[in-house]
Amino acid sequence: MKPLVISLGGSIVASAEIEFIRDISKIIRREAEKRRVFIVAGGGKTAREYISKARELGADESFLDEIGISATYLNAYLLMAALSPDSAPSIPKSFEEAMILSKSYPIVVMGGTHPGHTTDAVAAMLAERLGADTLIDATSVNGVYTDDPIKNPNAKRIDRMTHRELIDLIMASASGGAGSNIIIDPMAAKIAERSSITLYVLNGRDLEAFERAIKGRRFDGTVVEG
Ligand code: UTP
Repeated sequence: MKPLVISLGGSIVASAEIEFIRDISKIIRREAEKRRVFIVAGGGKTAREYISKARELGADESFLDEIGISATYLNAYLLMAALSPDSAPSIPKSFEEAMILSKSYPIVVMGGTHPGHTTDAVAAMLAERLGADTLIDATSVNGVYTDDPIKNPNAKRIDRMTHRELIDLIMASASGGAGSNIIIDPMAAKIAERSSITLYVLNGRDLEAFERAIKGRRFDGTVVEG
């Protein structure tokens, strides 16, 4: 079976109850009995708060990205606390390291790598390196919408779309900058397109959708392919 790669939004991990972290870890563990699982944790609210304060203090964008990466580590460590001893005991800083760790541990948790992109892009690059055919993007919204559903109540969810349609949608709304909050990092969408990686976008708090997507069943969210 191909390895499973999950981009787990920081907002899902950081603000979660302990019980939720236990429950999502159980699902991940069960899947790791069948195939290797790689999780890339996002930075969430912690990243955004620290980035916004440091920006006011005059820090440059790459420095702010480094702050964001540190926040992803915090969430990665929290997940590792729940997934241990099945997860590798350290956070790989590169894809090579992640691949090496996965030879000894069924689950590898990583965070950000370099300034200039988000953990969605890290997860897409990792999926590409591993030859994975799907990437689960567990985020704070239950799929891709025609517009930001929080700001625009008329935004409609898109159940199925192509990579190209996703890229066009993101490019029309992308703001950029450290800590910016768009549904999927444009780099992740482009990597998924060039390597034909199917994206399952869902609300990470919806454990039923999360588990169904992992198992390749119909789930509440958006499928991006083709
Ligand atoms: P996230 O991946 O959490 O970004 O990284 P996000 O899309 O803003 O947040 P979620 O999806 O809601 O959790 C947080 C910040 O860390 C920096 C970026 O500034 C990013 O916005 N970062 C992260 C990097 O510079 N490189 C990385 O590889 C990862």
